[in-house]
Amino acid sequence: MSRNRLLLGVGLVSLGAFSSSCSKESPPPAPPAPTVVAAPSPAAAPEPPKPKMSHEKLVSFFRLPAKTVKAPVDSAEQVSLGRMLFFEKRLSKNHDISCNSCHDLDTFGVDGKATSEGHKGQKGSRNAPTVFHAAGHVAQFWDGRAATLEEQAEGPMMNPLEMAMPGEKRVLATLNSMPEYVKRFQAAFPGNKKAVSVGNAARAIAAFERKLLTSARFDKFLAGDESALTEQERRGLELFASAGCTTCHNGPSVGGTSFQKLGLIEDFPTEDKGRYDVTKNEEDLHKFRVPTLRNVEKTGPWFHDGSVKELPTAVRLMAKHQLGMSFTDAEVDDIVAFLKSLTGELPGADVLAAPELPPSTRATPKPDPT
Ligand code: HEC
Ligand code: HEC
Repeated sequence: MSRNRLLLGVGLVSLGAFSSSCSKESPPPAPPAPTVVAAPSPAAAPEPPKPKMSHEKLVSFFRLPAKTVKAPVDSAEQVSLGRMLFFEKRLSKNHDISCNSCHDLDTFGVDGKATSEGHKGQKGSRNAPTVFHAAGHVAQFWDGRAATLEEQAEGPMMNPLEMAMPGEKRVLATLNSMPEYVKRFQAAFPGNKKAVSVGNAARAIAAFERKLLTSARFDKFLAGDESALTEQERRGLELFASAGCTTCHNGPSVGGTSFQKLGLIEDFPTEDKGRYDVTKNEEDLHKFRVPTLRNVEKTGPWFHDGSVKELPTAVRLMAKHQLGMSFTDAEVDDIVAFLKSLTGELPGADVLAAPELPPSTRATPKPDPT
């Protein structure tokens, strides 16, 4: 690991500065003092370093922040309605796109494309993040413009580049045209005068999304089983922590707890202004909501624009631009091995299988390719 001394100094000052500035929402654990790895003496056979950081210390980076927002209680009816809506292509103008088209649940909630194709094959400028573990994020979207999953879920249906529904009226006409949906909305939102609403559709989708969690070997490690990680993965985790990756990628989702500048130490060329577009605050220029690294092995291509196609490249770019460091090939391998230990098991078919959807009726608005 080589560091530019000057950059390192600047880096730690800035890291300290931003971690205190965002501590109101969820204080990330203080950045650890970087460990100085002694260069092996030329005579000694190069042996991989033994673990140096205690289990207790390592686990501390991934605990829930003290103050966490309580998730709403979701009923089984809301979750199963939300699952249907997540797969419902008739919520798109041409009946050809559902949430699942860009967030394919069978492939860890992503479509594997740099940028997704929406209505008429149109592309947006950002990569579709995974919906798995999104519930744990401090805000939704790369720029955090939606505060909650509920708020987020209203967006895509009427986004002209995505599902392109011309307005709420058509969404409601579609749902109301199928008696089974009306029945299911009433069961999911009992006592609501207007159970079928865009707000309730989004609420149900969010309830479903809160079930989209995976459990990885890393969770066994967090729970106390130190043998759950191989020696190499443990080395990678220790480097991940000692180098300062955990300053930003922390908490149970290994990310998602804060907004951080892309190119904090060394400028990262990007047109995307990130969080600035939402707040118009100069300080937020090129800040992005830190992505979760759970299942990161499976969620490429990476970065907000999907421009990074190899995981080791993502690690090198992060080290350089976020920390002002460069890793040896062996160190990159160790970190990548650790990142792969974050790949979890997908939930079973009861959560993920495409549900049976009610048939269209004569009243259901027709597909519209325009
Ligand atoms: C055409 C592709 C497309 C469709 C269809 C689509 N999304 Fe997305 N989704 C995206 C992209 C791209 C982003 C990131 C946009 C941004 O950050 O500006 C995103 C972001 C999200 C996020 C935020 C995740 C995070 O980590 O910030 C969630 C949650 C989400 N979508 C859920 C949904 C739901 C629910 C639907 C259906 C109602 C849906 N999406 C439909 C492409 C799509
Ligand atoms: C100063 C905060 C910060 C630090 C430190 C940091 N990251 Fe990141 N990381 C981010 C942000 C912000 C992004 C999103 C980049 C983008 O939007 O293009 C990201 C993205 C990533 C991604 C791609 C995830 C995806 O889904 O696209 C990986 C992998 C990653 N970081 C690994 C690391 C590793 C390994 C380290 C330590 C060497 C590290 N990060 C250090 C903030 C940070």
